[in-house]
Amino acid sequence: MSEVKVRAKVRAFRSVDLGFADPDKALRFFTAAWNLAPAGGGGAHYLRGTGAFHHIVTLRHAPQPALIRMVLDAADRATVDALHAQVLAHGLKTVETPTPLRQPHGDYGFGFKDPEGRNIAIVSGVKDHADTADMADRPRKLSHVNVNAGDSDATLRCYRDALGFTLTDTTRRLRFLSCNADHHSMVLGFTGGPTLNHIAFEMPDLDSVMRGAGRMRDHGRPIEWGPGRHGPGNNVFCYFLGPEDTPVELTAEMQQVDATHRAKTPEQWTWLPGRLDHWGITAGPSERIETAGLTIFFTDDGWRLDEWR
Ligand SMILES: [Fe+2]
Repeated sequence: MSEVKVRAKVRAFRSVDLGFADPDKALRFFTAAWNLAPAGGGGAHYLRGTGAFHHIVTLRHAPQPALIRMVLDAADRATVDALHAQVLAHGLKTVETPTPLRQPHGDYGFGFKDPEGRNIAIVSGVKDHADTADMADRPRKLSHVNVNAGDSDATLRCYRDALGFTLTDTTRRLRFLSCNADHHSMVLGFTGGPTLNHIAFEMPDLDSVMRGAGRMRDHGRPIEWGPGRHGPGNNVFCYFLGPEDTPVELTAEMQQVDATHRAKTPEQWTWLPGRLDHWGITAGPSERIETAGLTIFFTDDGWRLDEWR
């Protein structure tokens, strides 16, 4: 009988903790222009979408824009412990021991650095919201976070073998990673070191993406790429520059996948000349957003969850 090793898996990309030189100005952006809602909590600005997660963004002060940590959700304490064992078995050294946390961060979890120094928190038991009705022009949740990578292979091995992500597609420039029915919750590049490429927020549908784009224009922030429909994931998109030139995306209609999904290779993901998406109605990304997508690093100490205990 063949031995099947069942691995523990994270089940969602819950939130990002962001640092800004002017967090109050960033708060005004994320509420007035991006249409997230304050979620309460102390010591930072917590912002929620219409989905259940208590918050999907936190804002703090930092000397320059920074990604403090990416927060992944585990089903329960036993899964947190199993994921911790997998992270240690993977050979990662900068790893906390799982401990009780205080709300709104969850009731149990730990932090660690991935092979390229990205800060990750794994949490369970967050007291989430019961009201989850869609609203026409508000994000539901994070859709995905796209990070550049100096060593994409090492990063992929970590997310696949230690955290349970599945590779759902590969193009010449990107690898798409899934941890639930969404085609991707993370995207890894092949160049650019461990910097942030962009943060994507899920809207209810295409109309909501367009309403969001209009509101961004009202706030003096034009579309930097889009509207369009991506290849891998088949999701619609518009990209913008958020506070302190943080690249952000509004997206909707993400492809849903199950065990029957077959990942395609770079050779299978090709476009007609001049095309970068299914619609082909706009030019590619602006130079401004391409540049901004290489400048935001992770903080040194964001792997520690001290202030959550
Ligand atoms: Fe994206």
